[in-house]
Amino acid sequence: MLITVDLGERSYPIEIEQQILPQIGVRLSELTKGRQAAVITDDHVGSLYGQIVLDSLAKAGFETFCYTIKAGEESKTFAMSETILSQLLQHQFHRDCTIIALGGGVVGDLAGFCASIYQRGVNFIQIPTSLLAQVDSSVGGKVAVNHALGKNMIGSFYQPKAVWIDLDTLSTLPERHWRNGMAEVIKYGMIVDRDFFAFLKEHSAAINCREKTAVTEMIARCCQLKAQVVAKDEQERGLRAKLNFGHTFGHGLEIASHFDYLHGEAIAIGMVLASLFACEQKMCTQAVIDELRTLLQNFHLPVAMEKALSLDDVLAGMALDKKVTQGSWVLILPQAVGQVEIVNGITQDKVRNFLESKVKS
Ligand SMILES: NC(=O)c1ccc[n+]([C@@H]2O[C@H](COP(=O)([O-])OP(=O)(O)OC[C@H]3O[C@@H](n4cnc5c(N)ncnc54)[C@H](O)[C@@H]3O)[C@@H](O)[C@H]2O)c1
Ligand SMILES: [Zn+2]
Repeated sequence: MLITVDLGERSYPIEIEQQILPQIGVRLSELTKGRQAAVITDDHVGSLYGQIVLDSLAKAGFETFCYTIKAGEESKTFAMSETILSQLLQHQFHRDCTIIALGGGVVGDLAGFCASIYQRGVNFIQIPTSLLAQVDSSVGGKVAVNHALGKNMIGSFYQPKAVWIDLDTLSTLPERHWRNGMAEVIKYGMIVDRDFFAFLKEHSAAINCREKTAVTEMIARCCQLKAQVVAKDEQERGLRAKLNFGHTFGHGLEIASHFDYLHGEAIAIGMVLASLFACEQKMCTQAVIDELRTLLQNFHLPVAMEKALSLDDVLAGMALDKKVTQGSWVLILPQAVGQVEIVNGITQDKVRNFLESKVKS
């Protein structure tokens, strides 16, 4: 299945198929004249799929090397990007080289960031292997590393030349990370596509068993929706902000829990909180909250704060969000399933009062 992200000269394909990994070398030959390709991966994904990709590149005549990071968010740092850039220089990789991200969102964001600055920008290919990366982070060109003072605070917009989604890789994804990706999937239904929300409800059992037909359709719909949004608003000046539904509350929860909550888990709760907040503002009805909660629970995602978190920490985490400016918060709030609005000018006190009432009740 082929989806195009339409960005004029920088347009690129998202290909969703089985058995892509053994063909990476041939596919890359069709995209670039350069003969050097660096594979960035993590120790989980690298041990499963690294060799297949390296063999395929070597067979197609590429000079390659692989750099493997320790799996997990802690590796997504500026220091790690410097190590990777040094490796590229030591291997004498030229401006026409390609950087391939083989892994989840951590590898994609980090490798993309390196590709965006190495010799002022080199070819970048995304091979996302987690569900979250396949439906969200590999598409749209946001690349970044974390800083001790904030997540994703150092980064840029840098589009890949192609996104190759090999569905076979999902067979080894651990269950918790599968569920994690489902939160972002449900988000698309909530923000722009009521029919997709209904599809997820109807096919919950099949998707939970990772049944191929349902999963393929699901991933393709997410990529289509994200591609449409990115094509209209690449640099997040308006519409693209809707993709952050649940994320301001979610970031607060991630930070306050010291990342005990995975991103998707925090976003699941964040979407419920945003909906409760919207309901209090009379923007949506209780039925919207009920529908969202039921669907999240179908996919075994949390729907309320379960951990004893400090409210101050949650608010401080929310205030670090890039969409918050001093004194005035922007929240993405639902009006109905499939429709959200960007609401400006919300005061921190209003959010604090709301959260206090949720903690007490
Ligand atoms: N750039 C964006 O637009 C964007 C959007 C959303 C999230 N993100 C970023 O993405 C990151 C989270 O991504 P993630 O959830 O993929 O995390 P991740 O990259 O840490 O992957 C999750 C875990 O699954 C493992 N894994 C991945 N694919 C596997 C496979 N096929 N088989 C076995 N194990 C596999 C990884 O090794 C890791 O342990 C965060 O850093 C977040 O900030 C970026
Ligand atoms: Zn997200």
